[in-house]
Amino acid sequence: MLNLSNINVNGDWINWGPTAEVAEFHQKMFQGFLAQTPAKIREACYSEGRLVHILSAEHFDLSFLEKICEVTNAARRINKIPDAPLKKLLRNKSVLNYFAQPSSRTFNSFSAAESLLGMRREEVRDLRTSSAAKNENDRDALRTQSSYYDALVFRNSCNYFDLFALWVMQTSQRPIPIINAGAGQEEHPTQALLDYYTIRESSHHRVDGKSFAFVGDCKRGRTVHSLAKILALHEDIEIYFVAPDEYQIDTTTETYLQDRQVRTHKITDGLNNLPEIITGAVYMTRIQDEHDQDKRTKRYDPRFIFTEKMLDSLPKDTVLMHPLPKREEIEPYIDYRQDKNIMLWRQMRNGMWLRTALFAHIFGKDDKILDYYHSCKQSTAPKPL
Ligand code: CP
Repeated sequence: MLNLSNINVNGDWINWGPTAEVAEFHQKMFQGFLAQTPAKIREACYSEGRLVHILSAEHFDLSFLEKICEVTNAARRINKIPDAPLKKLLRNKSVLNYFAQPSSRTFNSFSAAESLLGMRREEVRDLRTSSAAKNENDRDALRTQSSYYDALVFRNSCNYFDLFALWVMQTSQRPIPIINAGAGQEEHPTQALLDYYTIRESSHHRVDGKSFAFVGDCKRGRTVHSLAKILALHEDIEIYFVAPDEYQIDTTTETYLQDRQVRTHKITDGLNNLPEIITGAVYMTRIQDEHDQDKRTKRYDPRFIFTEKMLDSLPKDTVLMHPLPKREEIEPYIDYRQDKNIMLWRQMRNGMWLRTALFAHIFGKDDKILDYYHSCKQSTAPKPL
């Protein structure tokens, strides 16, 4: 369990209040919330049997994953139908994209998904333009936003901002669904969902029994943590964490995976011939040096670069993935290859469809998308959405 006495709550991550006394008071209240079991916290993310707060990959199960992938496929296909029937689906809903950290893909794919569904959407991308600049505490800031919108998508540098936001919603009069678009170094559940969808689609829905390699910064790559936890829901999974010692996977995540019968390996001397034996995906990541004091002073270790030669030796059904942005960890010539198993850009675009499905799920419109899709397949006169 997260214990606030062990973490830097007085740092610049969460503004708890203007004075030590106020901050301490709120922290104590939050600590009380954290004293619940993980199962209780998971339960708090559901409403009427539906997962409405998308906070952690640990809250997903296989039936949720299957449904969300099915809806993603359906949304992707029906959007090709003239008059964009998706557009009306959530036209009465509004959302705030509250991003306290930079983003290109996550922000824009959420924004595109919201637009596809006809949602009213607003953004805060620079907290200096909000009353955070007047030392408003983060609890009040979130409560304020929940008064104006029907959903909140957040990105934050704090590892436990997901739990913090859930606590704020639970203790406010107008709780709204919240979606974690990246919290600190720990979780990026919607990226993991789109990664999973990409893996599932490229493996003919056969994920059981596959092996995966996560390469680069396994320690601070939040997408690595979230996706590995999702893969652990499947049977007979093997995961190689390929990174120098300083960027290796943390013990907590490794134990979580091993407790779920995942066979894990730490490889610290480079990629070498490993890609040849991977049957699922080689998942590259950049070094997350925004967390370092001395940003961009170290070169990426060339032993962990994915080369063109490795691409040529990948098994036929193994895909190359990257959550992006990328740097030098994939040889640049690979950008000019057209191999079907280079999945980086398709993976990124899948994010827009997956996030469309996610909003539909949260607001209980997912079955409408499926019904419409199936009626299109069966007749020339589809049901109205
Ligand atoms: N994959 C991802 O989270 O990218 P952005 O930081 O650009 O959103």
